[in-house]
Amino acid sequence: MRILAIESSCDETAAAVIEDGRTILSNIVDTQVETHALYGGVVPEIASRRHMEAICRVTELALRDAGMKADALDAVAATCAPGLIGALLVGANFGKSYAYALGKPFMPVHHIRGHIAANYLAFPDLQPPFLTLVASGGHSMLVRVDDYTSFTILGGTRDDAAGEAFDKVARVLGVGYPGGPKIDALAQHGDPARYKLPHSQIKDAPLDCSFSGLKTAVINLAHNAEQKGEPLDREGLAASFCHAVTETLVPRLELALRQTGLRKVSCAGGVAANSVLRAALKDMAQRTGATLYLPPLSLCGDNAAMIGSQAYYEFCAGVRGETSQNAFATADICENICEKSNKEALVKRQKMR
Ligand code: KG4
Ligand code: ZN
Repeated sequence: MRILAIESSCDETAAAVIEDGRTILSNIVDTQVETHALYGGVVPEIASRRHMEAICRVTELALRDAGMKADALDAVAATCAPGLIGALLVGANFGKSYAYALGKPFMPVHHIRGHIAANYLAFPDLQPPFLTLVASGGHSMLVRVDDYTSFTILGGTRDDAAGEAFDKVARVLGVGYPGGPKIDALAQHGDPARYKLPHSQIKDAPLDCSFSGLKTAVINLAHNAEQKGEPLDREGLAASFCHAVTETLVPRLELALRQTGLRKVSCAGGVAANSVLRAALKDMAQRTGATLYLPPLSLCGDNAAMIGSQAYYEFCAGVRGETSQNAFATADICENICEKSNKEALVKRQKMR
């Protein structure tokens, strides 16, 4: 089964053709990073406009690379939640219209489910159940993947997501946007023991964490150094920060492995590209004997291939988006976004009566 997938939840316009959830026939990502870098972060209005400008071209390229005509597709899918609502609406409406015009099914896909599914593309024999550390710009959580479309959240951040903290710290250190890769590069030349940074502990919730204290500690360090006219060891601070994030996430993942008794563990989302985190995950896997699935860097950030993979499993589970399918800025990974949309439409109809 060949699915055309569209992703437009943030600042990448992406289209891919995926076969049976596991094989990438094409994978096109048009990034807006350079545009948003001028503003130090994603500007939602600009993101939506750029998606509209790029989406037809990106889709044509995805079909061309797959060596296919549109009528050979079996279904179309698009990210419908969570993300920037204007950006999501571009991809969701494009995907629905494309499916409708072809007379093929449409599947709405949850973005974080997609990030997890990136692992199915990289590891053809990976099957649920397994444990995943989700670490992206908007989410940090530990998820038990019970089945392809069934998830249990075991713990998560009480405030900022890991990626959000990376982006904020990057701004404070003046390395610009996007923060994560720049902090990662800076950290390569720094001493992780240079600064002592706080590690969060949440009372009675050992799998939960917090990044706001860590973020504030870095901001205060940088401001104090500036006020006193002291030089800041930016490499050392970047390395200490990467180390602190890793020391927050990896022990919780290890605890979740022990608690669930699962032996397979993966990582998903943009922060999964972080070299300090990847090294610590490999160490942890070696220590515990768990099998680690780490997606290649090309599949950690936002892309449509991962959406096409998850869409296949949503299709197998009977998910079909109607032409009224809406997009949502927020949605829990456990939520059924078709039902969410249908319920919302029903409430609107009742109000109009
Ligand atoms: O998953 P993603 O591409 O988009 C969301 O769904 O949010 O994640 C983007 C986040 C950004 O916060 C970015 O700074 C972070 O992932 N990121 C990294 C690295 N590459 C991207 N964080 C740490 N180290 C990296 N190498
Ligand atoms: Zn993402």
